[in-house]
Amino acid sequence: MEYTPDQLTQRERYKVLTGFVLPRPIAWVTTIGPTGVVNAAPFSFFNVFCEEPPLCMFGANPRPDGRVKDTVVNIARTAEFVVHITDEPLARAMHETSGDFPPDVGEPDYLGLKLAPSTRIAVPRLADAPWAMECRTWKTIDVDGKRRLIMGEGVNFHIRDELWDRDLRVNLSGAFNCTKAAWPYMRERGWGRVIYMASVAGTLGGFGQASYASTKAAVIGLGKSMALEGARFGITANIIAPGVIGTEAWKMGDAKMNDRMVLRTAMRSAGEPEDIANTIVFLTSPEARYITGQVITVAGGIDLFVY
Ligand SMILES: Cc1cc2nc3c(=O)[nH]c(=O)nc-3n(C[C@H](O)[C@H](O)[C@H](O)COP(=O)(O)O)c2cc1C
Repeated sequence: MEYTPDQLTQRERYKVLTGFVLPRPIAWVTTIGPTGVVNAAPFSFFNVFCEEPPLCMFGANPRPDGRVKDTVVNIARTAEFVVHITDEPLARAMHETSGDFPPDVGEPDYLGLKLAPSTRIAVPRLADAPWAMECRTWKTIDVDGKRRLIMGEGVNFHIRDELWDRDLRVNLSGAFNCTKAAWPYMRERGWGRVIYMASVAGTLGGFGQASYASTKAAVIGLGKSMALEGARFGITANIIAPGVIGTEAWKMGDAKMNDRMVLRTAMRSAGEPEDIANTIVFLTSPEARYITGQVITVAGGIDLFVY
């Protein structure tokens, strides 16, 4: 299939474009109206662009009858807004804020959504959203007199504290629950090999990764404890602390940051997933029978002093 834009209706173009970039992130934007009312609306022609300065952008179309949307009017007046990302429990409310409410009706108020003050701007944020970025207008671009691209510079970030708990549940409770499920069978057999996957973030700490690093440090504590408990039942427990490993996720990461991590690795390269797999094979082999409670760092020397 091949089309030029003029072969498609406006609706068809919308469908092609929104089906093209998936999944569609949605900016849930709060602004303040002229009477002080707090407005909220979702915008899915949206993304973030760079971290220096931290920029996001969303595209606002006119209403079907040509009226300019309240969000656009409010931002033109105050140059401030908050962009939120929602999660499932708030998804319906987010959708409902797209209704055609008059400018003097605040969607959060109408729908009973909790607001919290922002720190650096006057526009309040939606208190229950998992992620919010206070923005000042960086630039707006007039597209055709009717549509606007609004670019915001993030001046403050809010991340819901329970995201900490999510990391804990996945990284630590997950490892604990798996151990609990397998433990009775290993004990019964008088043989077991438990291998926990930690990270050098758990031994070195991680900038901006307090929850991740803490859970990985805790996994090390869990592994050592299970080594003590398992020894008398023929169960060994060891912990692998991978450094930078060239997985798909790593390759999708920010290239500059990846380069910096490689530069502080003594071997000056990312490891391969096979490096981890080979360590697992060794730890489960008869040759490793006398090794327990150890943290095996597979990290090309990222934890060494490199200059
Ligand atoms: C999931 C979703 C995504 C939307 N994305 C956009 C968008 O990218 N651009 C736009 O102009 N309107 C978008 N809308 C429609 C606006 O949210 C809607 O017109 C809203 O009433 C605008 O509110 P306001 O007048 O308070 O600014 C979207 C609606 C929904 C439900």
